[in-house]
Amino acid sequence: MLKAVRGFKDVLPEDMPYWHLLGEEARSLFESYGYREIRIPVLEKLELFQRGIGSTTDIVEKEMYVFEDKGGELLALRPEATACIARAFIEHRLDLKHTTNKYYFFGPMFRHERPQAGRLRQFHQLNVEAFGVRSPSMDAEVMAMLYTLARKLHIEDAVSLEINHIGCAKCRPIYREILINYLAGQKDKLCKDCKRRLERNPLRILDCKNETCKEIALNAPRIMDHLCDECRRYFEETLDFLSVCDVPFVINPLIVRGLDYYTGTVFELTTTELGAQNAVAAGGRYDNLIEELGGPSVPGIGFAVGAERTVALMRKRMKLEEKKPTFFFAVLDAEAKRFIIPVVLSLREKKIRCEMEHEEKSLKSQMRKANKLGAKYTVMVGEDELKKGKVTVRNMKDKNQFEMEPSVENFLRLVEENP
Ligand code: HAM
Repeated sequence: MLKAVRGFKDVLPEDMPYWHLLGEEARSLFESYGYREIRIPVLEKLELFQRGIGSTTDIVEKEMYVFEDKGGELLALRPEATACIARAFIEHRLDLKHTTNKYYFFGPMFRHERPQAGRLRQFHQLNVEAFGVRSPSMDAEVMAMLYTLARKLHIEDAVSLEINHIGCAKCRPIYREILINYLAGQKDKLCKDCKRRLERNPLRILDCKNETCKEIALNAPRIMDHLCDECRRYFEETLDFLSVCDVPFVINPLIVRGLDYYTGTVFELTTTELGAQNAVAAGGRYDNLIEELGGPSVPGIGFAVGAERTVALMRKRMKLEEKKPTFFFAVLDAEAKRFIIPVVLSLREKKIRCEMEHEEKSLKSQMRKANKLGAKYTVMVGEDELKKGKVTVRNMKDKNQFEMEPSVENFLRLVEENP
């Protein structure tokens, strides 16, 4: 039997109510903050991610789907969207066209990681990116938006907003040296990956999942103690604005993020309910990314929500069901179909969910089907009805049955009376 590719998953119709709710809540919330939707391609030039995310990151070193196309160009399936949205921003000179540059995007991402519960090779993200503003109140606003989304989805009790500040081009290199010094003393105990990270990407060691590395990280010097005055003030003000926004948060000095473009504020929305995968959403500030990609010197901040992980939390808290048909039309034969089809089509045009039996089945078995589908009403068109030019309507809940003229208005009245 042919199966889906490992780490690639179908989302079945019964899952869709959760996805729809997530999408609708996110869209209306993001738009109320002035974000506008953008759509970017699934494929980009490999170089975009090498330059944007950083060539020594796990994503770029190990996890990308890269291939050479027929023209010999090296392309990659996007592993994340921030670099792509920044590329679009630069390419279309959006900074010159709009006074505010705030964008959102929903779509699949691809990372060749080891699949496990909550970790897929194709997963979906809701991304928001705000370009052009660098201010503590902006950082707080972005995190407040994320927290509000969690509240709207009724998962706020399952998540915690963890925040850190990873310094700037002035203070981070100094901290980096202090950290390398500390870690070098423990090098023998570090895992294989972290030994490699020591020179290339030492901050990443702070969020390694290996137990021994975790212990070493806990006792490591804290970036907070080495921020320059400007960064320290920025961080304090950000925390103050978060309190003004009434957003609960915890400071976690071990959050460093796995992508190189971050500067300053970084944050994660974490949970303890999804096993090893604890980040439901994550983001931060990236004030140099656009310039490094060849654009103007424009700062940025954003985050991405992992849709599968969010849906998993929603599922634990609410039961959502697919919509059921309002009317099931049980028809005796072709003549009955001809009689009722125009009404069925008109009702559907008015967004009323209708089912009609197409196969030749007894009225009794059609009734059973209507029941199984959870229809509100079964509308029977049999011999008697055809003679009278009427239909028999059965309320499937109270079993009440009555005859009526099959006019669109009559059906609409039923919908209004029993919404
Ligand atoms: P990220 O931390 O790599 O950040 O991913 C963001 C979220 O995507 C994670 O917190 C997680 O919920 C979800 N996610 C990541 N990998 C997987 C996976 N293999 N399977 C399922 N879910 C996954 C970024 O991608 C940044 N671009 C976020 C950002 C936007 N920063 C600034 N703007």
